[in-house]
Amino acid sequence: MIKTKNISISYKEFENFEDLNGGDRELISAARLSAENAYAPYSKFSVGAAIRLESGKIVCGANIENAAFPSGICAERSALANSITNYKNDKPVEIAIAAMTKDGFTEDPVTPCGNCRQVIAEEEARTGKSIRIILSGKSKTMVIDNIGCLLPFQFNNKNLKVNLP
Ligand code: THU
Repeated sequence: MIKTKNISISYKEFENFEDLNGGDRELISAARLSAENAYAPYSKFSVGAAIRLESGKIVCGANIENAAFPSGICAERSALANSITNYKNDKPVEIAIAAMTKDGFTEDPVTPCGNCRQVIAEEEARTGKSIRIILSGKSKTMVIDNIGCLLPFQFNNKNLKVNLP
C-alpha cells in the first residue's frame, strides 16, 4: 500500500511596511540596524537578526565572515548565541531578519539558511515555545508562525531519545 501525503504551510505577506504592527516594525528596524554592523567583506551581503525575548528585551546579531569561509556565522545564529549566552531563561518569541547589499536592503525577504533553520528548531525544542519569524524585504514582509513551516520533518532530540533539560 502506497500513500501520497501532502503538507502545506501558511504565512502572511505584508506589501506595506505600514500595515505591520508597531512591535513588528520595531523588531525589523532593529534587524536592519544590526545588518549595518555585519562583517561581510567576502560576500558583501550583510544580514541582521533581532530576537524579541519573552520579557520584551531585544537581542541582535549580524553575520560575521572569515577568510576561512566555513568559520563565518550567519546573523540568525549570531543573535541566538547572544540571547542564549546572556538570557538563557528568557525565551525567544520572535525573530526578524533583514539583509542588505551595496544597493541597500533587499527587495525580497531573505529566508534563513538550512543550518540556521536547524538551530532555530533546537531553540524551539529547548524552550518549548514557538518562535515567530519575520522576514523583511523592501517590497514585502513575510510572517511565519514557527520554524516547522520552514523546516518540516525535523531531526531533533526526540530522534536521539533525549529529554531536554
Ligand atoms: N547569511 C546570513 O547571515 N543569514 C541568512 O539567512 C542567509 C545568509 C550570511 C552568510 C554569509 O555571511 C552571507 O550571508 C552570504 O551567504
